[in-house]
Amino acid sequence: MTVVDATPNVLKEIPGDRGLPLIGDTVAFMTGRNTASLRRWEKYGPLSWSKVIGQTWVTADGPDACGAILQDRDRAFDASGWSLLIGPFFKRGLMLLDGAEHHRHRRIMQEAFTSDRLARYLPPMNDTLVAGLSRWPLDGRLDFYPAVKQLTLDVATRTFMDADVGAEADRLNTAFVDAVRAGTAIVRVPVPGLRWAKGLAGRRALEGYLRPRVPGKRAGDGTDLFSALCHARDEDGIGFTDDDVVNHMIFLLMAAHDTSTITLTSIAYHLAKHPQWQERCREESAALGDTVSYDELDRLTSLDLVMKESLRLVVPVPGLVRRANKDTEVLGYRIRKGAYIAVHTWGVHHMPEYWPDPERFDPERFAEHRREDKSHRHAYLPFGSGIHKCIGMYFGGMEIKAAMHQLLRRNRISVEPGYRMPLDWSSLPRPRDGLPVRLHAL
Ligand code: HEM
Repeated sequence: MTVVDATPNVLKEIPGDRGLPLIGDTVAFMTGRNTASLRRWEKYGPLSWSKVIGQTWVTADGPDACGAILQDRDRAFDASGWSLLIGPFFKRGLMLLDGAEHHRHRRIMQEAFTSDRLARYLPPMNDTLVAGLSRWPLDGRLDFYPAVKQLTLDVATRTFMDADVGAEADRLNTAFVDAVRAGTAIVRVPVPGLRWAKGLAGRRALEGYLRPRVPGKRAGDGTDLFSALCHARDEDGIGFTDDDVVNHMIFLLMAAHDTSTITLTSIAYHLAKHPQWQERCREESAALGDTVSYDELDRLTSLDLVMKESLRLVVPVPGLVRRANKDTEVLGYRIRKGAYIAVHTWGVHHMPEYWPDPERFDPERFAEHRREDKSHRHAYLPFGSGIHKCIGMYFGGMEIKAAMHQLLRRNRISVEPGYRMPLDWSSLPRPRDGLPVRLHAL
């Protein structure tokens, strides 16, 4: 007897294409060619499939699809998508954990991000910024991106570890960069000299630096993030193991370092291109002291608008990754178990339906009388949404504002007339030319 499934097949199949023979869409995906573009959305709509590194990937475009996946009401999506891309380099970082384990680790880690803790991270952060910015050259060309990357690394080593890494700074910086870039390697086996092998070496270098320092941090009463992780406990008194601390530190250093660097770069570029906004921000900073205190951060309201708009235009994490752990449904489309998902946050930030004249730098769109970020609950996703929403967003905002505050009080920033920043989207976005600026003494 033939059994006929009487359930009407109401779910739609996701449209898409196989791409090039054998490699599918891998090159476009890994080189970021699809990232800063609404091509897939325009061709296919909110969900579309492609073949990347031999796997089926579903791209979610638009706030409805992105929001549904990040909110994940059905518990159908897990973080193993991230593990495929960056697992070997950032294994057991918070973003790569799932379910009850993620929940438990997040609760413990939250202890390191309370407002009391943030207020204590700020003074050493300010000291490091004073020292770093005073070394920046005036009037000649400064490549802003590498300079600010060094600055945020200095901040991370001081605020995260209370360490002066000195001669090891270059080695650690290389380790970060290699570990991050390895995620978008096309050759995904360790061939010496190629991205994957460099990423693994980077991971080993970071572990080798951190692990021997755990006992000292546990024994001490430091106010740095490393110490905070060593001492953090949930309500049941349970804390992290030594391995947890090392894994979380490596992930946190990466998560904080590149995202803050990119945001500061985007802010500097937009302020150089829009001197009236630069002046507006400077006036607010001029009303405060050389360094900003935790309570004063809220008074930098124009800088806050500029930061939000810079995060919209150049979103530091332009795609978030998930995997379907069961057959499920999004917006009436069938998503099959095992599919990898790319939540295209860049696309959401550039849709004219939610952001009028989306390519225009217009910080006022975040002002109370406009609030375009409220045009849809998921129109604005620089920090993600749902259970993995960035735990460090206030930390990041604090660092970015503290750095820009000092810079604006010292210098006017300019770029050559007509300059446009060329971005490389092959990993997290970065300016191909380093963003050449001039700093003028005030
Ligand atoms: C402008 C700065 C930053 C941006 C744009 C940013 C962006 C994001 C995004 C989009 C996610 C969500 C990932 C996902 O859903 O898959 C995330 C998660 C995370 N971020 Fe950030 N981040 C920033 C700064 C920081 C800082 C400063 C820290 C730590 C000091 C940090 C630590 C984390 C952690 C631990 C997670 C994982 C949270 C979880 O899985 O529960 N981030 N971040």
